[in-house]
Amino acid sequence: MAANNPERLPEPQHPQAFYMKEVAKLMADRRRGAVPMALVHTYGCQQNAADSEKIKGMLAQMGFSFTDDRERADLILFNTCAVRGHAENRVFGNVGALKELKRRHPSLVVSVCGCMMEEKQASERIRRKFPFVSLVFGTHVLHRFPELLWAALAENRRVFERGDEQEDARIVEGLPTRRGGKTRAWLTVMYGCDNFCSYCIVPYVRGRERSRQPEAVLEEFRGLVADGYKDVTLLGQNVNSYGRKLGRPVNFSGLLRMLDAVDGDYRLRFMTSHPKDATHELIDTMAAGRHISRHLHLPVQSGSNRVLKAMNRGYTREKYLALVEYARKKIPDLSLTSDIIVGFPGETYEEFRETVSLIRQVGYTSLFTFVYSPREGTRAAQLPDPVPAAEKSAWLQELCAEQEKIAASRCAGEVGRTHRVLVEGRSPKSGLLTGRTDGNVIVNFPGRDETVGRFADVKITSARDWILDGELV
Ligand code: SAH
Ligand code: SF4
Ligand code: F3S
Repeated sequence: MAANNPERLPEPQHPQAFYMKEVAKLMADRRRGAVPMALVHTYGCQQNAADSEKIKGMLAQMGFSFTDDRERADLILFNTCAVRGHAENRVFGNVGALKELKRRHPSLVVSVCGCMMEEKQASERIRRKFPFVSLVFGTHVLHRFPELLWAALAENRRVFERGDEQEDARIVEGLPTRRGGKTRAWLTVMYGCDNFCSYCIVPYVRGRERSRQPEAVLEEFRGLVADGYKDVTLLGQNVNSYGRKLGRPVNFSGLLRMLDAVDGDYRLRFMTSHPKDATHELIDTMAAGRHISRHLHLPVQSGSNRVLKAMNRGYTREKYLALVEYARKKIPDLSLTSDIIVGFPGETYEEFRETVSLIRQVGYTSLFTFVYSPREGTRAAQLPDPVPAAEKSAWLQELCAEQEKIAASRCAGEVGRTHRVLVEGRSPKSGLLTGRTDGNVIVNFPGRDETVGRFADVKITSARDWILDGELV
């Protein structure tokens, strides 16, 4: 029995380490020693951007470098988004456009992954229409990417893989990450969503809500601060339900306090906060924080109680506004942003106008606005939807015009104030330095390159719509 004594077994290795080495060998053979190149296209939200950083981390461990030039790529990978029909159509178009390149470069590996590939119909459509795509995998099997890539390469077959119930519930720690920026970083604290808003596909393609252990988040966060990241955004579809299923005495406010206690010169943000779960404790934690941004992305979706109910959002206009009032009282300079859906099935013009009145009442810094897009398999997709698309677009324009006025007047009010700005780089158009305030508003100002990647105090001198111009103090 001695051979089974766990103490005598070798150190556990990363389960994918074997495949990473094998892929590296295979690619080195194919490229006769030259470095293989990968091109990763990312669609969708920050969650997908964070996943792409893990994919790139795994690719780097497999010996790949990165390129933006498809002619030079040995592997082209599309990390897809399923949230609206428009996003999906772009993916089909862009994958289809590779047919000719693949004909000229037969050894090119084309891969499609991400949220869309957890939808059976979408992955089937890729299988049927694009025979040159050799690797397709969904979000739930992302951690097995090296193994799947190995199977496609070594066995020279098409590989299609999606999550099952078990993988749905899993969190895999320890994947390598290759971050895009040097000042801003994404940090996923939870995966999935249990809310099932009636219009939304995300719970179907991202699976059930699950939180990372606070220790794992803290360790990654400490590493980011030590590496000099200055702006860290905690990610989750609904960060306010962080920790619910961990069976430990920790919630999102607790996690924020734990991270905020880490010393350093940085800013801490988070998204997305679902209004039904945003608490006074969260606002109080923000107000008391040393590093927590005075910015809250609190998507309202609609200002009409009937529509909110049909959306299954779990709050009313009044409850939302009461929360905003509390937040503004505790954090007077709070910057609020939101997502809005226009033209939900059955929404009337009068109901839409309630959304317009709400955005006026709140005075958002900026908005992400969308025309409702039916998603197969969601409850809203079965509702009668009589308003023509052209009319919905006109409503969207009306909403955006209103928001522009609100943003312009907010920006005008900034002139003369001084903001602490995290300098991100130089604007290619104007040549000016560009950065963001604590409230996530863009500021341009003249200055030297040494300032990039640091905080600087900038006095606002003028405002153009929603962009501010300033000068170093
Ligand atoms: N978890 C986040 C949102 C993630 S999706 C939240 O609850 O706020 C980002 C945004 O896309 C949503 O806030 C919503 O405004 C929009 N969206 C989602 N499904 C949509 C659909 N079917 N049509 C149009 N917009 C949609
Ligand atoms: Fe979609 Fe609602 Fe979940 Fe956000 S909270 S991801 S809108 S189901
Ligand atoms: Fe899209 Fe998936 Fe994000 S569907 S919005 S990329 S979670």
